[in-house]
Amino acid sequence: MANDLPTVRWGIVATGMISSWFVEDLLLPTWPGKRANHIIQSIGSSSLEKGQKFHEKYVLPHLAQNSGVDPKIYPDYASVYNDPDVDVVYIGTPHSFHKQNCIDAISAGKNVLCEKAFTLTQADAKEVTKLAKEKGVFLMEAMWTRFYPLVKELRRLLYEEKAIGRVWRTFADFGLSYDVESLPDNSRLKDLSMGAGTLLDIGIYSLTWGVLTLEENVGKGEHPKILAAQTLQSGVETISSWILNYTDTGRHGILTSTSNVRSANNFARIEGSKGVISIHGPTSSPESFTVKLHDEEGEGKLYTFDKPGRGFYWEADAVAVDLKEGRKENETINWAETERIMGIMDEIRRQGGARFPGDTF
Ligand SMILES: NC(=O)c1ccc[n+]([C@@H]2O[C@H](COP(=O)([O-])OP(=O)(O)OC[C@H]3O[C@@H](n4cnc5c(N)ncnc54)[C@H](OP(=O)(O)O)[C@@H]3O)[C@@H](O)[C@H]2O)c1
Repeated sequence: MANDLPTVRWGIVATGMISSWFVEDLLLPTWPGKRANHIIQSIGSSSLEKGQKFHEKYVLPHLAQNSGVDPKIYPDYASVYNDPDVDVVYIGTPHSFHKQNCIDAISAGKNVLCEKAFTLTQADAKEVTKLAKEKGVFLMEAMWTRFYPLVKELRRLLYEEKAIGRVWRTFADFGLSYDVESLPDNSRLKDLSMGAGTLLDIGIYSLTWGVLTLEENVGKGEHPKILAAQTLQSGVETISSWILNYTDTGRHGILTSTSNVRSANNFARIEGSKGVISIHGPTSSPESFTVKLHDEEGEGKLYTFDKPGRGFYWEADAVAVDLKEGRKENETINWAETERIMGIMDEIRRQGGARFPGDTF
């Protein structure tokens, strides 16, 4: 571990897939642009046995190359919230539990990094951010892709260098291929009470690429009008398509998600007056893009970005730096931006027809 960097001690809540990805990344020896050291201080699970299995599989093999600190395993989440050695809690439960998990962690005075989708609705997101403000803790949505160096370079090319001229349209898709009807009823991808459907699970990434590429000052300028349609299968949304309509600049985002068809590798295309940028997938964690000018011969210029593991360390580093500097919100995805994204997804569902129990629209 690098001595001159801030060190953050994480409490991990839930031992599902995303928690395993997050933890394995934080235990890597290093990564490009590393800004912090990360210690997995404790792990909370619905059962001690599950927590121990997670520890054995995803933590133990990597400890030697990290701090050597062996985390405590708890048979519940509350013990993580109350662990005095935990600086920040990472929440990796299904979306529908995020609100209560955040409320419990924040009420115990803990800083929180919470997986996307942040909550089920904008109203829920606002409740959580309000509590964080009252309690004076740090809170951030774990929209990890926003922290990729690739995104920074892409936005520099679009809005500083103006590499493709005037930006007009972005197409972005996130498609996976699974049969929702054959999933078990308690799957988070099928159970409506857990926020099932593609929009909050993967469509949020298409939406993120839309705002990141069409807004010069993300979240601080023009807010788009929304036009949306959805397909439901046995009540679960399996296709979402929507347009972000920026009436001042005239820009359009044509954005989609589905569980019926896997996305093409070139999942996003940004069109400008002088050229086109294609981003190469997966949608949540791309490693390259190509800039092709209209008046240029050949395939265009390829930009590639080195990424050991999966790329969760960049958002974790951002949290560490914010904590060190005493900030309560992160400037890349602040509370207003999280609330805005949830509000757009509310509106897509309001127009498209996908509903969760308890929806008020
Ligand atoms: N950033 C990304 O790239 C990314 C990728 C995938 C998922 N996610 C997000 O991460 C969250 C979790 O997704 P996942 O794929 O990791 O889910 P998962 O594999 O099903 O794991 C979720 C974990 O949450 C806990 N949990 C608590 N109550 C539960 C309940 N009633 N049903 C199921 N699990 C329950 C369980 O852990 P314990 O038993 O240990 O308590 C479970 O293992 C979602 O919000 C998803 O959108 C993000």
